Amino acid sequence: MKIAIGSDHAGWEMKEDLKLFLEKMGHEVQDLGTHGPESVDYPDYALAVAKAVVGEDAETGIIVCGTGIGSSIAANKVPGIRAALCHNAYTVKMSRSHNDANILCLGGRVIDKKTAREMVDVWLTTSFSGLRHARRLEKIKRIEESFQCK
Ligand code: RB5
Repeated sequence: MKIAIGSDHAGWEMKEDLKLFLEKMGHEVQDLGTHGPESVDYPDYALAVAKAVVGEDAETGIIVCGTGIGSSIAANKVPGIRAALCHNAYTVKMSRSHNDANILCLGGRVIDKKTAREMVDVWLTTSFSGLRHARRLEKIKRIEESFQCK
């Protein structure tokens, strides 16, 4: 699978760990930075991952910042993005199955690396269940469209 991944400085270590984990599983990882512990601004990396996903350079995206909050707020500004801030395997499963989330946001200062790996595994193996959930996503899309500049 083609996966875009990004982080700020607070998520950098976890992003590096997840990159190794994903590559070991045979995925094609597009690392959009950051590439070190120096302080950077999370919206820049959230935008890079969001663009890769909506532009179909990547099939899915993962962003890590300190809490995952800022990254999810930023990524969700991009039309077509459904970024889910998750904290455990259950919320990841629901974000894929009910919300068809296309970016997973994680808090590098909130969860440990083992939990993050487990969550990513669930993320990649859970499909959207459709049905009534598709109708709800259609409503979200209409909200988004109603606020877009014509
Ligand atoms: C950076 O200190 C921190 O604010 C950022 O990583 C993130 O948690 C923002 O939501």
